[in-house]
Amino acid sequence: MKAKELKKKYLEFFKSKGHAVVDSAPLIPEHDPTVLFTTAGMQPMVPFFLGQEHPLGKRIVNVQKCLRTVDIDEVGDPVHHTYFEMMGNWSFGDYFKKEAIEFSFEFLTKVLKLPLSHLAVTCFEGNKDSPKDEESAKTWLNLGIPKERIAFLGKKDNWWGPAGETGPCGPNTEMYYWSGRNKPPKRFDPEDNTWVELGNDVLIEFEKTKEGYFKPLKKRSIDFGGGVERTLAVLNCLDDNYQTELFLPVIKEIEKVTKKKYEDNKKSMRIIADHLRASVFILGDERGVVPSNLDQGYILRRFIRRSIRHLRSLGLDILKEDYTVIFAELIIKMYKDDYPLLEEKKEFIIEELRKEERKFEKTLEKGLNKFENMCSDKLIDGKEAFLLFQSYGFPIEMTEELAKEKGVKIDMKGFEKEYKKHQELSRVGAEKKFKGGLSDASVETTKLHTATHLLNEALRRVLKKNIAQKGSNITSERLRFDFNFDRKLTSEEIKEIEDEVNNVIKKCLTVKREELSLKEALKRGAHGEFGTKYPEKVSVYTIVDENSKEEYSKEICMGPHVKNTKELGVFKIKKEESISAGTRRIKAVLE
Ligand code: ALA
Repeated sequence: MKAKELKKKYLEFFKSKGHAVVDSAPLIPEHDPTVLFTTAGMQPMVPFFLGQEHPLGKRIVNVQKCLRTVDIDEVGDPVHHTYFEMMGNWSFGDYFKKEAIEFSFEFLTKVLKLPLSHLAVTCFEGNKDSPKDEESAKTWLNLGIPKERIAFLGKKDNWWGPAGETGPCGPNTEMYYWSGRNKPPKRFDPEDNTWVELGNDVLIEFEKTKEGYFKPLKKRSIDFGGGVERTLAVLNCLDDNYQTELFLPVIKEIEKVTKKKYEDNKKSMRIIADHLRASVFILGDERGVVPSNLDQGYILRRFIRRSIRHLRSLGLDILKEDYTVIFAELIIKMYKDDYPLLEEKKEFIIEELRKEERKFEKTLEKGLNKFENMCSDKLIDGKEAFLLFQSYGFPIEMTEELAKEKGVKIDMKGFEKEYKKHQELSRVGAEKKFKGGLSDASVETTKLHTATHLLNEALRRVLKKNIAQKGSNITSERLRFDFNFDRKLTSEEIKEIEDEVNNVIKKCLTVKREELSLKEALKRGAHGEFGTKYPEKVSVYTIVDENSKEEYSKEICMGPHVKNTKELGVFKIKKEESISAGTRRIKAVLE
């Protein structure tokens, strides 16, 4: 089976069970202070688990672009990836365990026709927060999964989320498939890697609070996730995801260009294929970023530079050609039907890869020589590691990898010290942020989100221009807002914008949410983010004076927001700067 067919079958099956199909959300999340990338299909759905209504109903399905860097060190083996696609179906306070399990089972056995004899499942064994999940086990039994193929495991294995500090979570039940060529054993052994995890039904019953409590949710929900790459490998009887059609053409091209065999160079070739695919999707995202030393840009830089190093280790003279571009063109061709934006952004993707490759090539050779010299005493101190980072463009993780290969130690504490001395914003901060979790719907971020809508409208009114949002990011401390404008704002204008926002806050306007068709929302003058593709039905937030009925702002948005502007406090702009030609950035706080 081909990937396209698998995805189509999945979406169609759940559509036939009353689910509305939605597009993948961007890989780079908006308004999310805790993560750099979308790491699971459920992440953009967090507000709907917490009670907000989804405009398309209680049953949703999609295939989501995801990226996880927690697995980066595992990339190189047959099954791990950074970028991957996740099939996801959700019930927001609608069906629960029994139906979810029945749907998953029907999809695996009837639609994908996987034999029952090769299936096994895990259920939660129970702890102080939640009892043993006998109900799920019973449902599986009734469907025909034998008792010996049902394992009860603890929190480490059978509990999902919250990925961050707070948010929706609950016990889960996972589905496994025997990928061996031999007959599957009667008893399921979760420790045996021949059993491949195909899917995970998370039974969302709790919201973990800041204080660490598991607060039962009013409405129980379902979050299913299943990896496209893995399922595809299983369906095609392959034990190496990199041999599926999603990677094989790239692997073949790497073999051709390097004149080396995959058989002898699996690790490097898998890393190159994985990292360049991830890079293409980061650059080609709706909110695509360019390589830099910060946040998503830094992860992208690491991916590209690590690929280049591995290409070089396969014997390529990197100065001869822009190799990353050759592979990126192929990846775009492979994915452009499913993700047309990649084709639209092709020139940008190629140009940025080319620029990054050339930039790195300039220093790579010299940097590697320097590294070799540093290795002579078996320890790279903080200053040396920082020199490689700062002057030769070696991401610290790359130096770590090189050092590991040589059995040399790095003084990481020393490096951090040097780094902090030189940079305001540390990489460690960015990484911590990444390892965090889900959309943060804390009081602070909710307030700043509403303030963002006020700022957006205030800019339009004060600058008297057709201002459009080009990006937004909110942490619990500040909001960041990008918009189209071609010059620096004057201090008078900044003051005027602040006053405008603060006046609205004082007027105690109501924040109202409605579900509208996209057409109706646009007809009523709702603003959206520039370049975003919206579904047919959307949520619209209007900030309105309840007495005069006069509307101040109207935006297409997922929320969450405060109920009344009086909750916000005092709005203050901290910084206004240019981020690229024609785009300005404002950072602001509520005091
Ligand atoms: N959110 C769940 C996962 O990532 C489905 O496994």
